Amino acid sequence: MMETKVSQQYNQMASVYDRRWSGYILNTLLFLKNWAQIPPSATVLDVGCGTGEFEKIVLAENPTQHMVGVDISQKMLAIAQNKCHEYTNVSFQTASVLQLPFADDSFDVIVSASAFHYFDAPDAALTEMKRVLKPDGCVVILDWCRDYFLCQVCDILLKIFDPAYKQCYSQAEFHNLLAAAGFEIRRASKVRFGIVWGMMIATATPQPK
Ligand SMILES: C[S@@+](CC[C@H](N)C(=O)[O-])C[C@H]1O[C@@H](n2cnc3c(N)ncnc32)[C@H](O)[C@@H]1O
Repeated sequence: MMETKVSQQYNQMASVYDRRWSGYILNTLLFLKNWAQIPPSATVLDVGCGTGEFEKIVLAENPTQHMVGVDISQKMLAIAQNKCHEYTNVSFQTASVLQLPFADDSFDVIVSASAFHYFDAPDAALTEMKRVLKPDGCVVILDWCRDYFLCQVCDILLKIFDPAYKQCYSQAEFHNLLAAAGFEIRRASKVRFGIVWGMMIATATPQPK
């Protein structure tokens, strides 16, 4: 199963992840924080939270923000836990996006950064996120965008050489996935990081029942 390969890969990489990707992590997560404009009172779920860098960035501004991070890599989570151990309002759990261990309608905001291209079943992942999201909540997803040339090249190469990699999507495909899972897109953009690397972000809310 793909998730086993992903967790193995990130367990192996965990101790060097922050150092190896420091520039990318800081740029993308600051962008996500500024884009998301998370209300201070919101309860936030971070899917594929990795080493807890997003939590650290948010907590630096609002130390009382209620946040839960989930990831399938226990070693990434151990680092996240260590970084945020002083905060009783923040917790981390080992869980897959396909089976979130939370009741329906639990979160005001769900974020996910640079993880969507690993998800085995993106349609089921979005449906599961919608289940745990409050009806007036929103998801904010940031990920690689295949509309950019370098992402297209990486997509081809990673599919061949990286057993953990699933695929990245064009913005149109991503929006179709969101719509099919019952989300309405409120705000969306494509964004370049550096000269060549391209990502996309969307804020979406559950369609009214
Ligand atoms: C590139 S890292 C991004 C980490 C963090 N969001 C950041 O921006 O620094 C991708 C993370 O997604 C996690 N991940 C991949 N597939 C997942 C799944 N199905 N459920 C939960 N987490 C997953 C990986 O274990 C990894 O920690």
